[in-house]
Amino acid sequence: MRCDEPHLIHGLSLPGGEGVTVRPVCPRDADVLQAYVRALLPDARYKRFFGPLRELPPAELDRVIHLDPPDQLGLIAQTRADDVIGEARYALSPDRLDCEFALSVAEGWHGKGIGGLLLADLESRASSLGARRLVGDVLRTNEAMQALARKAGFRMADVPRDARLVRIVKDLALAPATLPRDPPTASALANAA
Ligand SMILES: CC(C)(COP(=O)(O)OP(=O)(O)OC[C@H]1O[C@@H](n2cnc3c(N)ncnc32)[C@H](O)[C@@H]1OP(=O)(O)O)[C@@H](O)C(=O)NCCC(=O)NCCS
Repeated sequence: MRCDEPHLIHGLSLPGGEGVTVRPVCPRDADVLQAYVRALLPDARYKRFFGPLRELPPAELDRVIHLDPPDQLGLIAQTRADDVIGEARYALSPDRLDCEFALSVAEGWHGKGIGGLLLADLESRASSLGARRLVGDVLRTNEAMQALARKAGFRMADVPRDARLVRIVKDLALAPATLPRDPPTASALANAA
């Protein structure tokens, strides 16, 4: 699937009413994404990437711009003026039950609901892919992300063999498209009663 398929581009609104587009990262976005990552504060980059990097290593950048939609995708959130105000990434696990994600919001844009908006968008994308859980690993010291996750209905779990991290997990409702299409027959209803 192409990264610029229209159904992968979501027009959303912040709580204050400002329009935001959440769209896939395409190969042509390499410079835009790298500039976004460089502009994050060191502490935010550490929390997002779990290491002291100043920018995405070339191999990692190349991987992100060539992810394979819709099962795995990089996303960027942009204002109407094309400012990149956040990014996220997700990937379905091989058994397709878990959708693993990470996200960040640009400096100067924190506290405006963008993190919550990205999380809700990830949830809807994961549900429509049939995932049962949305799952992220977060540094235990990252109180903002844990508070955001709690507010969005995630529970917390330990990460095996890594005490630095906490796993945030949300059980997902199946999207209508993933539910069985045929109505139950009269005999099935009778058997279930
Ligand atoms: C964590 C992060 C994504 C939050 O994004 P945001 O756009 O500022 O969050 P929102 O405005 O949507 O906030 C939603 C809720 O999250 C919680 N929250 C957000 N920032 C918080 C903070 N600094 N302290 C405590 N709670 C916070 C609050 O409950 C908030 O709801 P409220 O505004 O009603 O109080 C952002 O701080 C960030 O990019 N951090 C660096 C990267 C990172 O940590 N990524 C996570 C790796 S998975």
